[in-house]
Amino acid sequence: MLELLRTRRSIRRFMEREVEEEKIQELLQGALMAPSSKNRRPWELIVVKDKEILNQLSQCRGRASGFMAGAALGVVVLGNPEASDVWVEDCSIVATILQLQAHFLGLGSCWIQVRKRETPEGGKVGDYLKEVLSIPQKYDVECMIALGYPAQEAKPHDKDQLSYDKIHYNNF
Ligand SMILES: Cc1cc2nc3c(=O)[nH]c(=O)nc-3n(C[C@H](O)[C@H](O)[C@H](O)COP(=O)(O)O)c2cc1C
Repeated sequence: MLELLRTRRSIRRFMEREVEEEKIQELLQGALMAPSSKNRRPWELIVVKDKEILNQLSQCRGRASGFMAGAALGVVVLGNPEASDVWVEDCSIVATILQLQAHFLGLGSCWIQVRKRETPEGGKVGDYLKEVLSIPQKYDVECMIALGYPAQEAKPHDKDQLSYDKIHYNNF
């Protein structure tokens, strides 16, 4: 597990290669087993493989999201605030599990923040995505995860360089 965590890095360049359906299903199974507050599972996932839609997703935040256009797939993570007051945490856990499972399967991934972010035109990124993906109004989009076979090398984390000063024992 520690080795998986050490070698996971954000990947923003992907090969043209498609991701096998079997791997996509494993990814999604992992996500669906995510823990959630009161086991409410207040999330919905939209899996996008269509190039044109990936292209539209990529435009939501300029450079911060542009690499979605080159991804083999994107998973949009949304939550229902009516279903849980901690939907943000629950969605974040799902997204993190997606990223770790992706790395385990030899895929690269990167989180693209949606909640609280604006489009280059100044609108809410969530509203733009609701339009593009026909998401019902009551949901809020937390993030999107871009995925695919990595086309870039990423240096693993160095265990000696971790911020050990952020760890406190017994009190701050
Ligand atoms: C909540 C969150 C939001 C992020 N938003 C973006 C984003 O919008 N665009 C992007 O390129 N990377 C985004 N990232 C990826 C971070 O930049 C990246 O995780 C961080 O720089 C650490 O690098 P590493 O993932 O390679 O360890 C986000 C990561 C998190 C956890």
